[in-house]
Amino acid sequence: MFKGALFDLDGVIADTSSLHFQAWQKLANNYFAAELPDYLEEQTKGVSRGDSLQIILDHLDVGVSDSMFQQLLLEKNELYLASLKNLSPKNILPGISEFIAELKENEVKLALASASLNGPAILDKLQLTDTFDAIADPSKVAQGKPAPDIFLAAAKALDLEPAECVGIEDSIAGITAISVSGALPIAIGTNAEFKAAFKTFAKTAELNLADVRAVYDIFKKEHAIW
Ligand code: BG6
Ligand code: MG
Repeated sequence: MFKGALFDLDGVIADTSSLHFQAWQKLANNYFAAELPDYLEEQTKGVSRGDSLQIILDHLDVGVSDSMFQQLLLEKNELYLASLKNLSPKNILPGISEFIAELKENEVKLALASASLNGPAILDKLQLTDTFDAIADPSKVAQGKPAPDIFLAAAKALDLEPAECVGIEDSIAGITAISVSGALPIAIGTNAEFKAAFKTFAKTAELNLADVRAVYDIFKKEHAIW
């Protein structure tokens, strides 16, 4: 049995993922009169605010000064926070509360491994802060997803080896990050690009301890852990 579960936030715990892209859309519209193509949503998923802005500016083929870059980050976050105004436990994705309850009954420790600097505030609004044993701080890791740093930090905060943990993600960058960290990568969604995922659930509602446990047993054998 695994001992830790390292959770992504946006798109795994809460239905906030598309709100990030909507905020980027508004920003691109306000500043550059541009419409962003849908594929940029996947490219910015799981990716830090600054890295996401760079991806968008590269797509628009515009360069901005450092102060303008900071200004754009600030405004994107204001737009995003405005869209979170009514966030409540109702925004927890289907099946997540039940899955978390199963984990807790089995004494699995929980850590948040989100790229979002808003993670702690969002967990509060979802009334999940006390449910988590640790929150890895994305401002303290050297590299964002797809680098493994935030998942390594989350496992460490639980005092566990990554191989004793499962990681749950809805983004390609995040699945790569889990896979490199050594934890078991579990993907949520239907993206055909989830190549590094050890197991994929189409929706959060399908997540359940029995399946994850069975997959972890296979993972453990294949990776010859203890
Ligand atoms: C991730 C989102 O969870 O957090 C990304 O998938 C977002 O879209 C990133 O850019 C950083 O979030 P924030 O709240 O710090 O801007
Ligand atoms: Mg996500």
